[in-house]
Amino acid sequence: MAIFIDSSDPKEIKDLYAWGCISGVTTNPLIISKEAPDADLGERIREILKVSWGDVSVELTTETESEMLAEAAQYHAWDKDRITIKVPLSETGLRVLHQLAKKNVKTNVTCLMAMNQAYLAALSGATYVSIFSGRVRDMGYDVRPVISATRAVLDREGLPSKIIVGSMRHMMDVNEALEAGAHVPTITPPILRKMVWHPRTIETINEFNTAWKNRGKK
Ligand code: E4P
Repeated sequence: MAIFIDSSDPKEIKDLYAWGCISGVTTNPLIISKEAPDADLGERIREILKVSWGDVSVELTTETESEMLAEAAQYHAWDKDRITIKVPLSETGLRVLHQLAKKNVKTNVTCLMAMNQAYLAALSGATYVSIFSGRVRDMGYDVRPVISATRAVLDREGLPSKIIVGSMRHMMDVNEALEAGAHVPTITPPILRKMVWHPRTIETINEFNTAWKNRGKK
C-alpha cells in the first residue's frame, strides 16, 4: 500500500512529504495549469523531483502516436527511474503504452472510468491504472464496484498493474477507495490535511497538555 499526493506545488509536496507517509506524486495538465500557469513544465517537475521520492507522474498532452512518444521520451529523460508517463486512455494511448512498456518505461494510464478500460491497460503493460473517483460519481455512478471489479480481475489474472484512485473530492472517497481495493489513493493536499484532523483527538491532546502544565497546582 502507498499514498501519493495529487499536486504540482513543490512547497506543498515538500511540506507533506515530511510526514513520511507519502511515496509518490501525480500531476496532470489541469492541475499544473491551475497551480502554475506560467511555469516551465521541465523546471516545475525537476523541483518536484528534488523535494520528493518515488514515482512522479507527468501526463502527455499531445494526441498523435509520434508526438506522444516524443513527449514521453522528453519527460523520461528528466529521471529515468522516477518519471512515470501518464498516458490518457484511447486507441492511440494503448499503442503508445505498448511501446513504452516494451522499453520498460513506467506508465500510469489515466482518465479511466470503467473496469474494462483498466483491464485493457493492464494487459498492455501499464505500471499503474488510474480510476477517477469524483468524475465517475459526477456521472451518477458508484465508483466502488469499478475499483473492486478492477482489483478482482488484476488479482485473478496475476497482472502486476497497481490501481491508483484519484479525482478525490472528499475524505470519504479515500476511505471508500481503500476499502474497495485501491492500491494507491492519490490525494490532494487539503484532503490529506483533513485525514489528520479529529476534534476528539485535539480535545484529548489539550486535556493532557493542560494537566501537565498545571501539575502540582491546587
Ligand atoms: C490524478 O492522477 C488525476 O489526474 C486527478 O486526481 C484528477 O482529478 P480531477 O477529477 O479533480 O480533475
